[in-house]
Amino acid sequence: MHVNDHSRYDLLVVGSANADLVIGVERRPAPGETVLGSDLAVHPGGKGGNQAVAAARLGAATALLARVGDDAHGRLLLESQRAAGVDTSGVLVGGAPTGVALITVDPSGDNSIVVSPGANARLTPQDIRAAGALFAAARVVSVQLEIPLETVAEVAHAMSPGTRLVLNPSPPAPLPGQVLAACDPLVVNEHEARYILGSAAGATPEEWARALLGLGPRSVVVTLGAAGALVADGRRDDVVHVPSPEVQAVDTTGAGDAFTAALAWRLGRGEELTEAAAFAVRVGAAAVTRQGAQASFPTAQEVSAL
Ligand code: RIB
Repeated sequence: MHVNDHSRYDLLVVGSANADLVIGVERRPAPGETVLGSDLAVHPGGKGGNQAVAAARLGAATALLARVGDDAHGRLLLESQRAAGVDTSGVLVGGAPTGVALITVDPSGDNSIVVSPGANARLTPQDIRAAGALFAAARVVSVQLEIPLETVAEVAHAMSPGTRLVLNPSPPAPLPGQVLAACDPLVVNEHEARYILGSAAGATPEEWARALLGLGPRSVVVTLGAAGALVADGRRDDVVHVPSPEVQAVDTTGAGDAFTAALAWRLGRGEELTEAAAFAVRVGAAAVTRQGAQASFPTAQEVSAL
């Protein structure tokens, strides 16, 4: 696909910004049970904010369109974006408290997350329409589902000709056909693939990739954690497996966001989907080797050294 050649931004991320309140646990509590965990850590996070920081740290000219509260968490998030070099002129402030994610991380590095959307839920279709200049200046737009679905639908509508849309439907929700048709690619993990396909989900990730393509996106990427990713491009008739380097996982929080940001950036530079995914799996692998979301994202140099 042809992408905007004279764009100011390699990537515009539209999405959530959360303060991540993280506690390490030996195991998660059962219903009605209390367990003790580690000291509380507060990290900048949110799927949108994470993607923007990940891309900027890799060297992409990146802008974020999001909403935070006029509070200490909002200031923490803005500071993290600015420190990474993200253009925050599209970050709106006020209307509700900053979004918060309550995260537990177990000894294997796996996490469980509950999000209070707060200001993210107040990012409206009108906010998208008012940000036309950002959309016109972007090669690639990346969006997730921690903002209202009608806002995501407006993003799909606001795309300039020649700009590519990358969607990670997380947390998953029923997607309008018009949104699915605009995705190039739709990026899902196993949980999201099964949710979207429902009873039509086959037994293998290859079957999910083909079935998801059948729902309308121009391309699909299924992330497989330590096993890498599967890539299916509607313009070709194959499903390609992209393996990941082996690493010691410490904390997987935000690794999927780093993967998607890296993928989106490299697609905007004109790489083929398989080539971009091969770079993105390395970025995701590097991100699981350190604690936190944004704090764990690598530079391009760190990715090369992996
Ligand atoms: O994908 C990881 C992110 O999900 C965390 O940073 C948390 O904020 C939730 O949005």
